[in-house]
Amino acid sequence: MYETRVLSGMRPTGSLHLGHYHGVLKNWIRLQAEYPCLYFVADWHALTTDYEKPGDLQQNCWEMVIDWLAAGVDPGQATLFVQSQVPDHAELHLLLSMMAPLGWLERVPTYKDQQEKLTDRDLSTYGFLGYPLLQSADILIYRARYVPVGEDQVPHVEFTREVARRFNHLYGRETGYEDKAKAAVKKMGTKKARLFGDLRTKFLESGNADALKRAQALLDEQQNMPRGDRERLYGWLEGGGKKILVEPEALLTEASRMTGLDGQKMSKSYGNTIALREEPESVAKKIRAMPTDPARVKRTDPGNPDKCPVWTLHQIYSDDERKAWVRKGCTTAGIGCLECKQPVIQAIQAEIAPIRERAQPYLDDPTLVKNIVADGCEKARKLAAETMRDVREAIGLSYT
Ligand code: TRP
Ligand code: SF4
Repeated sequence: MYETRVLSGMRPTGSLHLGHYHGVLKNWIRLQAEYPCLYFVADWHALTTDYEKPGDLQQNCWEMVIDWLAAGVDPGQATLFVQSQVPDHAELHLLLSMMAPLGWLERVPTYKDQQEKLTDRDLSTYGFLGYPLLQSADILIYRARYVPVGEDQVPHVEFTREVARRFNHLYGRETGYEDKAKAAVKKMGTKKARLFGDLRTKFLESGNADALKRAQALLDEQQNMPRGDRERLYGWLEGGGKKILVEPEALLTEASRMTGLDGQKMSKSYGNTIALREEPESVAKKIRAMPTDPARVKRTDPGNPDKCPVWTLHQIYSDDERKAWVRKGCTTAGIGCLECKQPVIQAIQAEIAPIRERAQPYLDDPTLVKNIVADGCEKARKLAAETMRDVREAIGLSYT
């Protein structure tokens, strides 16, 4: 079976904010210790909506990667790369475009949503319609099993599963598939071949998941069996053809939607963010200026934390004891709002300090970042090439 890989991408938006940190990066950092992870800068994706004004794609890319590194994404564990530097993504996108039904693309929810929301941009392009398919290529080219994303991206991962299934269905059934599969089973030796056959029957007849697992484990052991045969058998085991592409699963980032300075979701477009590398004084200034429960006009007016955006920050940064202090102090007018904000200011400053520190060497010497990304691109190109070899062969484009 293929290695269990994790893949995720981010558009190059330049420097990131605390919402990205709590919503996405912490998740990436947790996963990098558990699986081989690939994290990439989706620069082509940025062009699907902003081709008229690409802005400084490269500068935004480097800024963002510095933030990843500063937050704790570890290039020793995860592979960091830039989409456009692995052109195989484009080849897979092209090949998938031949078989992707138009109706599927038109039904992706973000297609209409974004066209309605981003009225200042021209989104009636081929590239914008095809953008979920480009995302599918990003995922499928690494045979990624898990894709950590926010809720808005889940339909894209679902779409990718359908694309993978369609591809495998179309190209995973070579002529003489059954015969080839049966011949491959024989190579396991009589005893194991019989066990494998029994487990397969058990799984296909009763859906017994344990039988499937045991049969897969048997195959995992067959290190001497040619790769093509093993792949064939993984597919055959489940009653299908060869699984050339892997169906991914979304790993939903917990709905830790960080609130911005104004109580709305933290987002660059609302101008309500605290940057990941915000200066300490600026953190203090921004929090002090935050609106609070509008009912607290005077210091002596009691308030309600549930109507205050500062409270949502306490929920991230304060322990139960401090939260009780806020609730009591607020509702009885025992504390003032500035007093209430102080521990939040300190907690955010404390969170940001090591991040700023880790960013410094990369700011001092930008070649460090470029080298990390160059290494990552090279690794990614190798992995992508493996899948593309199988994809070309399956379609009949290998010309050997
Ligand atoms: N579409 C994603 C976004 O806008 C970025 C992205 C591109 C991505 N390709 C991906 C995310 C592949 C996960 C996997 O946020
Ligand atoms: Fe908000 Fe705290 Fe002021 Fe209450 S005391 S309104 S929770 S800032």
